[in-house]
Amino acid sequence: MDLKGRDIISIRDFTKREIDYILEVAAGMEKKLERRGRLDILSGKILANLFFEPSTRTRLSFEVAMKKLGGDCINLTAAESSLEKGEDLADTIRVVQNYADVIAIRHSKEGAARLAAEVADIPVINAGDGSNQHPTQTLLDLYTIKKELGRIEDISVAIVGDLKHARTAHSLAYALAMLDAKLYLVSPPQLKMPCDIVEELKEVFGAEIDECCEIKDVIRDVDVLYVTRIQRERFLDVEEYEAVKGSYRITPEILKDAKDGLIILHPLPRVDEIAREVDETRHAKYFKQVHYGVVVRMAILYLVI
Ligand code: NCD
Repeated sequence: MDLKGRDIISIRDFTKREIDYILEVAAGMEKKLERRGRLDILSGKILANLFFEPSTRTRLSFEVAMKKLGGDCINLTAAESSLEKGEDLADTIRVVQNYADVIAIRHSKEGAARLAAEVADIPVINAGDGSNQHPTQTLLDLYTIKKELGRIEDISVAIVGDLKHARTAHSLAYALAMLDAKLYLVSPPQLKMPCDIVEELKEVFGAEIDECCEIKDVIRDVDVLYVTRIQRERFLDVEEYEAVKGSYRITPEILKDAKDGLIILHPLPRVDEIAREVDETRHAKYFKQVHYGVVVRMAILYLVI
């Protein structure tokens, strides 16, 4: 299978076989990295990290992944860029592609990564576009599930929190639908997953979906609890945010009814939706997810370059 030159814009653009293949290459990377500490397969290659929205994990893990492959990295944020002077995104991309072999872009507007990919002659990786998609996060979520649960097919997953705005939830739901997961979508009524996504998941991917409001109704049945924060910055009205903030909080009390092997994932950052005491339980895998993010992004960079 050849993914050289491929853009990674939406998880929907990938088949189940391609997803499996990326996860296999990531597992190989993890083994090689354990043995050798770093690899030199992308030496001389440059990743341009264009992060026009805040990021800790995604930006840093792309940079670390590139460096561990022997490559190098250039970084740009909105405040440092000529977007501030009125340059449009297409021109910025036309310029940056002269300096790099691959672009990772994060932007507040849905569709920005797709636009960048149309303009660029080099591969473009979507590191999050508004509320739309975050495909590399999904790949590392799946990798974590595979490693920590032992399988990714036919599982039951509750995706909890701000399902209206969380791009991580949207991407993951599509991938899990392809993998025949049973999906529980748990959110306050105001933050339900958009109807067009739910319909497509059911009609195109044949997903089995239950939408509900309470974690306690699903906690006994799920193998994975995927928690997202309420995305304050995406609310148009601050009062609407105030009305739903703090809607969910995973506590050791709630976990009493969980399956023994339940794993809890979160793309992070966490605000208050997972109590700190949960970090000490066997269920907490969100910092493991961060660890796996590096090898998954190494696999992605290696494959597209
Ligand atoms: C997420 C994002 O940016 O979408 N973070 C991440 O990339 N790990 C989640 C979030 O911001 O809530």
